[in-house]
Amino acid sequence: MKKTKLIFLGIFAVIYLAFFGLVSFAETGKQPDPNMVKKGKVSYDKYCASCHGEKGDGEIAPPIGIRGPDYFAAPGLNGSAHSWHHTDENLLKVIMDGSSRTPKMRAWRDVFDNKTAEEILAYFKNWWPKRLLECQGPKHMSCM
Ligand code: HEC
Repeated sequence: MKKTKLIFLGIFAVIYLAFFGLVSFAETGKQPDPNMVKKGKVSYDKYCASCHGEKGDGEIAPPIGIRGPDYFAAPGLNGSAHSWHHTDENLLKVIMDGSSRTPKMRAWRDVFDNKTAEEILAYFKNWWPKRLLECQGPKHMSCM
């Protein structure tokens, strides 16, 4: 009797985690809000385009022999690189706190607020094809 109860609880726990784990990590898959996209473009062009490209296609790294060992190219944000593997929360965190690997991607926290970061995120997610929007975040492993 006790064993059956445990098995029952175990099954329940697995179903619960599978369901709520996915739901809480899921991105919406929706197109970003056009108003935010419009505002985000102004800030993106001002702060981000110089490295990530006006169209978000990223930087082309110089050849290995020429670039330094600690050279980091700014990745594409338009879906050509892997930014869509990250959740909105992760992307916003990199924007606000910067990269721990290179000061080249600085923290923007003292330049603008969260709302501006969300607008910039909306602007570059607007470049992502529908499939990437739907597969964003941890889902990307099983989604493609
Ligand atoms: C001076 C160049 C530079 C500027 C300006 C810059 N970035 Fe970056 N960014 C980088 C580099 C280099 C990396 C890669 C860091 C790493 O590999 O750890 C990066 C990484 C990122 C990432 C992580 C992408 C991924 O796929 O993991 C995001 C998101 C990002 N930048 C957004 C922005 C936004 C938004 C702005 C403008 C507010 C901005 N960056 C401005 C150079 C820059």
